[in-house]
Amino acid sequence: MAEKNRNFKKRIAVTGGAGFIGSNLLLMMVPRYPDYLFVNIDCLTYAANLSNLSEIDSAENYEFEKIDITDYAGLEQCFNKYNFDSVIHLAAESHVDRSLIGPALFIQTNVMGTFNLLELARKSAVSNSDFRFLHVSTDEVYGSIETGSRADENYPVNPSSPYAASKAAADQMVRSYHKSYGLNTVITNCTNNYGAFQFPEKLIPLLINNIINGKTMPVYGDGRNIRDWLYVEDHCRALDLVFHNGVAGSVYNIGSGSETENIILIKKICAILEKKTGAGPFDKLIEFVKDRPGHDRRYALDSSKIKNELGWEPSLSLDEGLELTVDWYLSQSDWLKKCTSGEYVNYYEKVYGDRK
Ligand SMILES: NC(=O)c1ccc[n+]([C@@H]2O[C@H](COP(=O)([O-])OP(=O)(O)OC[C@H]3O[C@@H](n4cnc5c(N)ncnc54)[C@H](O)[C@@H]3O)[C@@H](O)[C@H]2O)c1
Repeated sequence: MAEKNRNFKKRIAVTGGAGFIGSNLLLMMVPRYPDYLFVNIDCLTYAANLSNLSEIDSAENYEFEKIDITDYAGLEQCFNKYNFDSVIHLAAESHVDRSLIGPALFIQTNVMGTFNLLELARKSAVSNSDFRFLHVSTDEVYGSIETGSRADENYPVNPSSPYAASKAAADQMVRSYHKSYGLNTVITNCTNNYGAFQFPEKLIPLLINNIINGKTMPVYGDGRNIRDWLYVEDHCRALDLVFHNGVAGSVYNIGSGSETENIILIKKICAILEKKTGAGPFDKLIEFVKDRPGHDRRYALDSSKIKNELGWEPSLSLDEGLELTVDWYLSQSDWLKKCTSGEYVNYYEKVYGDRK
């Protein structure tokens, strides 16, 4: 701890750092910025995995604090201990299907948790008016986007699921803290991510895991819902840019522009796995199941603002990113097994059992 008291250039609270995007972000930023202190604040839900962070665990500029962001007193102690000058807020309940089963937890974590962090940021800003608050959010706040158009940052907010609504509520609260208190906020709304460390309830790792285990692949509805997939490391580079250079009070949409129907994505993953394993064909495992209620048909973002203002571009095509992702999951069978034992089995049955 003595080392952690040294004069860091920045002292950043990163919430949700043991989850999918948080792990990728910390693995990128901790070595890149040795002059910054990163404190990972995470209560370690089912979606977290601290072993993702073994590479940086003993870094001098990294600390972990097990705190639930709904616990204001716990957070306040942590803010007092580290004297943060910024927050990168990723902690959330993040899975739409779980929000349909139990929305209350989503309101607690995503809305109340964000409120607690904003309050502490507001108090910290009294002595440090530059206190930075980066709120990491989703394109799902815009709801389904009509064919032919793309959502820019001024697109109406129109969430369809309790998850999307909880994120939209948090976004609005962040906006209000900028307008009402002048807090130095930035918000990012990003499309669907994929890549290493993603919990296998999400579509891409779920498909890979099911194929590896010879299980059917449940496809909602007609499989023609469209998503704009972004490789997680490209998202993390965007977050780094927005954190450092985003204009206070601004919102930045982050999308890859590679809109793809789910069924096409599934066929791509089957083809990559057939090539890598020499087994298959795997598309015989596709099983169409009853659609998810409130399932948005299409997400598509206009990301010109972050491209023009901050010079961000995605570095990988969907095909390149999928290859890397499949390789990662094929090499991480222990990681996958740990995630998919225990509670995951009950969850899977609850979500997909009734849809067949
Ligand atoms: N995954 C995506 O495709 C995507 C896209 C756009 C935006 N986002 C947003 O990015 C953020 C991170 O998403 P992710 O996919 O990494 O999620 P994730 O579910 O993989 O990880 C969430 C992390 O938050 C932690 N957490 C949850 N509740 C908490 C609480 N009450 N207190 C402290 N920690 C808590 C979990 O333990 C976990 O480590 C979320 O805010 C999500 O809404 C995700």
